[in-house]
Amino acid sequence: MLNIGVLVSGGGTNLQALIDAEKRGEIENGKITLVVASRSDAYALERAKNNNIKSEVLLRKNYASTDDYSDALLEVLEENNIDVVVLAGFMTIISSRVPQVYRNRIINIHPALIPSFCGKGYYGLHVHEAALERGVKVSGATVHFVNEVCDGGPIIIQQPVAVMDDDTPETLQKRIMVEAEWKILPKAVSLFCQGKLEVVGNRVIVKE
Ligand code: GRF
Repeated sequence: MLNIGVLVSGGGTNLQALIDAEKRGEIENGKITLVVASRSDAYALERAKNNNIKSEVLLRKNYASTDDYSDALLEVLEENNIDVVVLAGFMTIISSRVPQVYRNRIINIHPALIPSFCGKGYYGLHVHEAALERGVKVSGATVHFVNEVCDGGPIIIQQPVAVMDDDTPETLQKRIMVEAEWKILPKAVSLFCQGKLEVVGNRVIVKE
């Protein structure tokens, strides 16, 4: 059984999707054993508490540099024997030493079809504002491994979602969460825990 550590900064609806999937027995060979929040007021912490999951708060302002913060994060992950890290709306920048230590063991969810609307500055509602501005008919979500390049790691699963004529950034964000993020994130984590993801270069082969 692999220990899953989930990193959060906000509402934690993706964390909730993972918890619900685990309860339904859909995270095969994995258990969420730790939640790390970069904000003490993250509602995700309540979700952890309500489900008896250990949590830690790591505030960036308590560390002199991104490297120091990343070392503290690695220490917490290692102390808790975390095998796989899930970034579920984690908004604090971490150094490349984290993906170096956890090579192909950090999974992120991005609310667009990478390589569209991703990289620096594309977070939260900005992603959906950009998609609507460009007038795309399809957006979606991507689950990928984290490497040293922002949103550049090997892609595990992508799920397209239709854009409606009357969408606002908020309505599009919600539809992408419901129809894509909350489904493909638990699926990818389960596949990982079962050892079914093989990384070949920048491609991920899913061994079903
Ligand atoms: C999600 O849209 C996710 O794709 C992005 O951050 C948001 C987190 O939302 N990385 P939540 O905290 O899981 O509700």
